[in-house]
Amino acid sequence: MNPRVAEIEPSVIRMIAAKKKSGAIDLGLGEPTLLPQQRFIDAAARWAAEHGVKYTVNAGDPALSELIAAHYGYPGMRGARNVCITTGSQEAVFVAIKTMLDPATDELLVVDPAYPAYAKIAQLEGAPYRHVHLRADEDFRYDVDLIVDAVDRATRMIVIGSPANPTGRVLRDADARRLAERLLARGGKPVWVLQDEIYRELTYVDDPGHIADYYPYTIVANSLSKSNALRGCASAG
Ligand SMILES: Cc1ncc(COP(=O)(O)O)c(C=O)c1O
Repeated sequence: MNPRVAEIEPSVIRMIAAKKKSGAIDLGLGEPTLLPQQRFIDAAARWAAEHGVKYTVNAGDPALSELIAAHYGYPGMRGARNVCITTGSQEAVFVAIKTMLDPATDELLVVDPAYPAYAKIAQLEGAPYRHVHLRADEDFRYDVDLIVDAVDRATRMIVIGSPANPTGRVLRDADARRLAERLLARGGKPVWVLQDEIYRELTYVDDPGHIADYYPYTIVANSLSKSNALRGCASAG
């Protein structure tokens, strides 16, 4: 067995979820209680009946990628070539960490409190990782200076979940701008930022920050799991 897999601790959230009794109110997994809209399921079934369920090119169906690029409209996401379709955003996060980090030299910086998968993926890949802890006495607000000051010479990627699981905190637009300014001011090899935006459509502030609006070395992951209650469906990274 791969010893790296053996070393990874089981997810506490999953352990608790596995003990759920029928009728319990589940606040553990990030799952909207709404059912998906039937029209999406009908459209997918119609498409499959008419076209079959075929392999696509590796990066995903170019027509879908084009629509995704237009939907998000981030400056660096120009056209289908900057979009990669994965099955759920966890796969997008996995592919981003696997692709962008050389485990021999590059470190991942995880902005905590964070979704546990980021560190586990780094562990699985044998990539070094460190945590930078947002302050509990500041309600875990995104302190951009704290994050950037934690970057060192080996850091090649920062992963930020915003809106955050588990805190619900949202990086604000001014924070995203400042993060970009500070990272660009460092010079040298760029530090990639992976923003997990899976809760993007469940945001209740007027000025949510999208790092991709300001910083060219950004990878954004999102999916339909939360916004449309369609878990396991294709998404964008
Ligand atoms: C922050 C975060 N990222 C990623 C995922 C996984 O998303 P997906 O279902 O799209 O793989 C979850 C699921 O709970 C999550 O909370």
